[in-house]
Amino acid sequence: MIRLVDLVKQYQTKHETVVGVDHVNLEIKPGEIFGIVGYSGAGKSSVLRCINLLEQPTSGQVLVNGLDLTKLSAEQLRLARQKIGMIFQHFHLISSKTVYENVAFALKAAGKPKAEMGKRVKELLQLVGLADKADQYPAQLSGGQKQRVGIARALANEPQVLLCDEPTSALDPTTTQSILALLRQINRDLGLTIVLITHEMEVVKDLCHRVAIMQQGKVIEQGTVYDVFANPVQPLTKEFIHNALEFKLPSKLWDRLDPSGKVLKVLFRDEAAEQGIISDLLKSSGIRANILHGKIEYIGDKPLGTFIMEVAGSREEIEQAVRYLTDRSCGVEVMTNVG
Ligand SMILES: Nc1ncnc2c1ncn2[C@@H]1O[C@H](COP(=O)(O)OP(=O)(O)O)[C@@H](O)[C@H]1O
Ligand SMILES: [Mg+2]
Repeated sequence: MIRLVDLVKQYQTKHETVVGVDHVNLEIKPGEIFGIVGYSGAGKSSVLRCINLLEQPTSGQVLVNGLDLTKLSAEQLRLARQKIGMIFQHFHLISSKTVYENVAFALKAAGKPKAEMGKRVKELLQLVGLADKADQYPAQLSGGQKQRVGIARALANEPQVLLCDEPTSALDPTTTQSILALLRQINRDLGLTIVLITHEMEVVKDLCHRVAIMQQGKVIEQGTVYDVFANPVQPLTKEFIHNALEFKLPSKLWDRLDPSGKVLKVLFRDEAAEQGIISDLLKSSGIRANILHGKIEYIGDKPLGTFIMEVAGSREEIEQAVRYLTDRSCGVEVMTNVG
């Protein structure tokens, strides 16, 4: 659907050349929700804006449905862009126009006949749950409602791709959930391919099928959301995951831990998350374990369990336990050696 080949974007400022995107290769499949994660300045927006050529790449190819956008004439590009919708963190609505006019504007720009416009705008507002807000102005709407107008406008010309640049970063958690639900629904019902930028791994976990992590203009890691959460490789990826699957133990608890024991953080992937590995371990070894913290996350519909447990026993028994867990494809990390 979308293929970025050796994409480079440099910005020329008065004094220097700034590298926004540094040889990025990505393939986004039709119908998937693809997340791009990274801190501010990593190059996420630059990549996204190259996909609809809002930014002209310095070099490399941008293929959408096999068409290299960098090679199109102005008129061909205008038509290709109609099939790529975009939404923004700060919505970018026209404040002097009503909700209806904001959405109609996109249709007008694409040359839709006036007669069809009223019906289409109605449909779109219905779809995003704003049927009763057509005559309101953006200033009268909440953040979530503004983003819904942005989504209606982006969908006006029946795009195949929706580019989302931090669509929930200006919204509170509850509103964020409702916008993510709407994007999920659009993806499912309209088969739209979605590329979504965020700095929140939580959003990726809840919504995306695959994800790429960016740092300094480069994609440093990518994969299915499950694999990246279950097996992060790069330190930055681990940091993002850690923030999304945060497990804090109260400091009081550390104080009263058995000095001969260890605290293990165990990651149960795939089937391991649903099997009684811990109880089997306890039955088959002399080890004593006390679960301090734990939960099973469902990413898509696949379980990923994280448990923090205090284990006590001889050094050998503990080593054996770590091996036992590792052999069953669990990730094991010794959090601290209190001894
Ligand atoms: N128009 C521009 N002129 C100069 N530098 C830019 C411009 N746009 C982005 N950059 C630089 O490119 C890098 C990547 O920016 P950006 O793509 O906005 O990252 P992100 O969206 O991940 O925060 C940053 O160093 C940023 O300062
Ligand atoms: Mg950005």
